[in-house]
Amino acid sequence: MSAPAPLLQVQDLHVNFEIRSGLLQRVSGLIRAVSGVSFEIERGKAFGLVGESGCGKSTVARAVLQLLEPSAGQIIYDGQDLAQLDKADMAQFRRKVQAVFQDPYSSLNPRMKAGYIIAEPIHVHALKPPGEIKAEVARLLDICGLPARFADLYPHEMSGGQRQRIGIARALAMGPELIVCDEAVSALDVSIQAQIINLLEELQRELGLTYLFIGHDLSVVRHICDDVAVMYLGRIAETAPSDTLFSDPSHPYTQALIEAVPNPDPDAEVNRIIEPLAGEVPSPANPPSGCVFHPRCPVATERCHHEEPALEAIAPDHATACWNVSAARKRFTDPTTKTVLQGAEK
Ligand SMILES: Nc1ncnc2c1ncn2[C@@H]1O[C@H](COP(=O)(O)OP(=O)(O)OP(=O)(O)O)[C@@H](O)[C@H]1O
Ligand code: SF4
Ligand SMILES: [Mg+2]
Repeated sequence: MSAPAPLLQVQDLHVNFEIRSGLLQRVSGLIRAVSGVSFEIERGKAFGLVGESGCGKSTVARAVLQLLEPSAGQIIYDGQDLAQLDKADMAQFRRKVQAVFQDPYSSLNPRMKAGYIIAEPIHVHALKPPGEIKAEVARLLDICGLPARFADLYPHEMSGGQRQRIGIARALAMGPELIVCDEAVSALDVSIQAQIINLLEELQRELGLTYLFIGHDLSVVRHICDDVAVMYLGRIAETAPSDTLFSDPSHPYTQALIEAVPNPDPDAEVNRIIEPLAGEVPSPANPPSGCVFHPRCPVATERCHHEEPALEAIAPDHATACWNVSAARKRFTDPTTKTVLQGAEK
């Protein structure tokens, strides 16, 4: 039996932003925010993008959402190249692909009651007859875990978690297939995060949703995602099913991210020599030569300074962009070493 066709395919995506300077605002450089990113998501699955701040996660999300035009590469949704869609098909795509962002307070209109916020897309896209909209809003609030009376509240009358539920209900109002969650739970307290994650998982099971889930908290991403890609400076460093990525990370950057998560067992922390991972993430306007990770890499060799490694399969579904996978694995499994990312968020 052949594998099901992916719902979303991102192929060799590049996104550059021009740097303009001087009185005439001439182009003086390029920020290469995304440099050759490829991945695909099967229908009904959750795919995670992780990496330090500025590595290009939101830029990938905005390209998928058609909020910016890629500099190169293709985004294929349900078999169709988005660059080739006519107006009617693009309108369908915009309905089927919805987003939930980090800060619901800034994405929800503060002057509108929640009921109107949720009803607006139903009304604009004529998804229900006018007489049925109120009941539809109540249904959407209910599946997002809020009583119908929330329709009469303004965003400032709710907690952060409740506002994020309204953001999710508004996304669901369009009957989406794919939801792009860009740091959707990052601003919430840990216990509220868990509730929203549970809601997202429940909705995924019941509605068959597909997620592109962006986050910097590895334990959250691991929990919700089937597959994960680790990004560094606009590129995918490593991608694998979640469990494999966490049990057998093979790229030194993935290893450093995992090592930076505190081990809940204090005994396991004893006797580990902490080797700080040198420096901060370089600027995407001036990326290092060769492997872009080489200035910070604990196992870099001469070759890494000159030649950029491609993302290559090291096992079925597991790919890594590194020349020295065996040295990296050896270092990672040595119980006396630990690398700590400097400047990492978590
Ligand atoms: N509109 C823009 N114009 C110029 N540069 C931009 C623009 N948007 C993003 N960038 C730059 O592109 C790079 C990638 O940014 P992006 O927001 O995609 O990162 P991110 O991984 O989402 O980071 P964070 O975790 O902080 O949200 C950064 O260097 C950022 O400064
Ligand atoms: S290619 Fe070299 S510099 Fe890059 S991650 Fe691998 S060992 Fe480190
Ligand atoms: Mg971002």
